[in-house]
Amino acid sequence: KLSESNRNGFEVSALSFADDKGKALIVEPGETVYRTFTIKNTSEELQELLQLELDKNADSVFRIINGEVKEAKDEEGEDAGVLPVGENPVPWNYDQDEETPLTVAASPKRAGVHECVLCMHFKGYKEMPLSAGGGRKAQTFVMKRHISVECGDRKMHEELKPTAVFTGKKKTAEQRFGEGTSTQHVVHFQRPRGYPTVLVRGAPSQDKDTLAQEIRQLFAEGKLQEIKAKVEYAEKSFFFREGETRYRDYKNLFELLLVVEEAQMEADVRNFDMSNVALIETHGRDRDERGEASYYLYVAGLGENRPSVVIGDKVLLSPRAHPERTFVAYADRKDLRQDAARGNLKIKVSAKIRDAAVKGARFDVRFTINRASLEIARQAVLHSNELPLGLLFPSRPTDNPRQELVSGKIRPINFTHQKGNEINGLQREAVEAILKNDVKDAPFILYGPPGTGKTETVVEVILQLVLDARKMSRVLACAPSNTAADVLACRLKRELRFSHHHDSQKMIRIYSTTREYGEMHKDLKECSNWDGKKEMFFVPKRDQIVNKDIRVVICTCFVGGQLRDFGVKKGDFDLVIVDEAGQATEPDCLAPAAAVLGDSEGRQNCGRLVLCGDPKQLGPMVLSREAQDTLSKSMLERILEMRAYKKHRGKYNSKLVVRLLDCYRMHKDILKLPSRMFYENELRAEGPPHDRLQNWNGLKARGLPIIFEGVRGKDMREGNSPSWFNNHEVEVVRDYVKQVTAGAGIRPQSIGIITPYRKQVHKIQKALGREFQDVSVGPVEDFQGQEKLVIIISTVRSNRHFLAFDRAHRLGFIDNPKRFNVAVTRAQALLVVVGDPKVLYHDKYWGELLRYCRDRGAYKGESLEGIEKAEKDDDYDAWEDQHLISSSVGLEGNRDDHEGPSWSRDG
Ligand SMILES: Nc1ncnc2c1ncn2[C@@H]1O[C@H](COP(=O)(O)OP(=O)(O)OP(=O)(O)O)[C@@H](O)[C@H]1O
Ligand SMILES: [Mg+2]
Repeated sequence: KLSESNRNGFEVSALSFADDKGKALIVEPGETVYRTFTIKNTSEELQELLQLELDKNADSVFRIINGEVKEAKDEEGEDAGVLPVGENPVPWNYDQDEETPLTVAASPKRAGVHECVLCMHFKGYKEMPLSAGGGRKAQTFVMKRHISVECGDRKMHEELKPTAVFTGKKKTAEQRFGEGTSTQHVVHFQRPRGYPTVLVRGAPSQDKDTLAQEIRQLFAEGKLQEIKAKVEYAEKSFFFREGETRYRDYKNLFELLLVVEEAQMEADVRNFDMSNVALIETHGRDRDERGEASYYLYVAGLGENRPSVVIGDKVLLSPRAHPERTFVAYADRKDLRQDAARGNLKIKVSAKIRDAAVKGARFDVRFTINRASLEIARQAVLHSNELPLGLLFPSRPTDNPRQELVSGKIRPINFTHQKGNEINGLQREAVEAILKNDVKDAPFILYGPPGTGKTETVVEVILQLVLDARKMSRVLACAPSNTAADVLACRLKRELRFSHHHDSQKMIRIYSTTREYGEMHKDLKECSNWDGKKEMFFVPKRDQIVNKDIRVVICTCFVGGQLRDFGVKKGDFDLVIVDEAGQATEPDCLAPAAAVLGDSEGRQNCGRLVLCGDPKQLGPMVLSREAQDTLSKSMLERILEMRAYKKHRGKYNSKLVVRLLDCYRMHKDILKLPSRMFYENELRAEGPPHDRLQNWNGLKARGLPIIFEGVRGKDMREGNSPSWFNNHEVEVVRDYVKQVTAGAGIRPQSIGIITPYRKQVHKIQKALGREFQDVSVGPVEDFQGQEKLVIIISTVRSNRHFLAFDRAHRLGFIDNPKRFNVAVTRAQALLVVVGDPKVLYHDKYWGELLRYCRDRGAYKGESLEGIEKAEKDDDYDAWEDQHLISSSVGLEGNRDDHEGPSWSRDG
């Protein structure tokens, strides 16, 4: 085992490419930098330097030069010369106190951290004691030094460097503020006009909500075991009962889980409370007629949804001078998102606080959770008995004749305008099964691997309904996330245009009133609920949704669950489709169906429920450990496990379930690996060859449109944000964007960049600037359901130290099959992965992709040889901790110090 320390009296001076302040130097590609160090013998014995050796990692980046060298011109000098490294021994004798200067020259050519180990082999002589025979004895030993240099675009690194030293989360006096607010004097301030409120019918007021209070109490007392026991009890009855009692068990279980999850959110939001802060003035024009004003609060993590605040959310302010008072303020309506990226939360305050704020008062701030989506889900569960039991627990399917949702024969519509595209057999089976609607109650499930046309099939179903002038069926199409709902809406809109129905407004995309203009897909403005005059999304009335023109409503599950509160009646819709259903918790998935299907009496003509998705892609996000086991299983997944949905004699019952297998999205080589890893090699490449970039000269392996670029980067954080970024990867990603746009003529709109951390999203957006603002950058969650011609993935992590943590908390990209699967299956024609080979090599999933690329010559970067052989090396780990994370980052920390799943739920 080697040691970094000095030994046997030999001293090697410090050796690092850093500036005077110890900050790493960024060397531009092609530049050479020099660092001189000395080796000195401080012992009384004669010692010998046998050999200097740079390990293989040095590639052509590092050289050792004899003597002192400061600049390139010295290198030409007489004494200086490159030492023969590695092969010939370099015997030098060192007398006492003798020292020699040596120089390390670094000329990195590629972005990232370059490192190697310098090994110095010495021979020393030791006077032996008489007892051991006396005389001098030779002894060889090795000393080593890690050398690293950072290479990149200096200007970009300067622009993206941490804005503030990472401080972690401060736990201070806010605890005092967090407790006992109920006894405080709360100064209410009426929600300003036009601010959204989500009305939830039937929701108990908070102090009447006994279950919530009980759970909250257990939480406060730290009795998590008791909560766990309750959940387990409810699960038991849920899974073993039969018959009608099941409604009750269903409600008991899911209501409990939702309440537990809410208690967890409430506990988590406390982490963001702030104490002793001032309000910052905004421009005067924000003052409105009631004399209320808007102020900014600086909230560092806001851009990463920590905390997550949407328009109209309550923020509680308590003046330091009058801690017994609490003022209510509301997250402002205008530019909330835009300001949030900079950490500014705009809030509307009442005239009363304004007066105090003007005088420079300081406040303690408490955030509240937006419980609307949880309450919607809970109401869905509580009203689940209005749905037929077979919808929740489909057992043996029974016939349901004469319930067709369309009149006449089914002729494909969606695929007719795209030359060469044809609806395939399985897709057609699914469309027909859904529209014929001839089994009673049971949900229809359409599932299958990425890119197999699930969403496309949903579009076809909707078109069939919309363009059928006789039956006039109405469909509610939902998805758990806004991005997935937008994908559906955009495709449907395009198809409607092709079918010459653009003038009749057949569809409406309803956004939540808590969203802003900038969060709407720009192609959907005309068919959305945007009110241009008031500059906000309006709450549609029943006759704006249910009328003779509009036949399809597209929204998130959350908004779908609110339709009843908008006045929509049961029976208004004939079909509810949830796309990406695998990403929703069961209550979220149920919400749209519970709002519009079934009825409290006869359960005639209940309407049909269709769930689409892929259980191998991302599942629902659940925070509470106690609720996780059950709540993170989607309804899609649960129902697929039921007997009626399994293969019998090698075949599915296509009245209930269709599994698609032909992939149209991806180039065949991009598809190969995920197909093998997650779908038993069953996925078949179909449709267009997606070969547009197959011969692009930027590829490492001609003909194979995948690149794995290994970049040793550096984990960084800033301020009190737990989110990570890695500027070396940002640079490489930016360069790829430039290359594919300039070199291959790809439009920015056709490029997507996926990365696990919000901070990295912001840094990449900043580096891309205005020129490339149409490139979509986001976390995997936002990409589920989407596709792009070119996908670039930045995996961020460079320090192995954090991997165990990431793993334990299911964070980031490592050891996360579902995230991996979604990320690598979005690209049609080119997939680029930028990441640290040392970290990724040992990951089950990324490692496989890395080796897949290496074996086919598509890997770029540091050689993998060293990594393959690497054994556990504590010295190396210590070195890594020092160098591959920015200096101020603490290594330990609890869950709050790392970016977790964002606890906001998409509204
Ligand atoms: N029968 C078909 N012929 C030609 N192209 C098709 C066909 N079906 C789907 N496609 C195309 O394949 C691509 C992927 O389809 P789609 O997005 O619907 O897949 P998906 O199963 O919903 O994927 P994901 O699981 O990622 O949501 C789309 O570009 C779509 O237009
Ligand atoms: Mg899809």
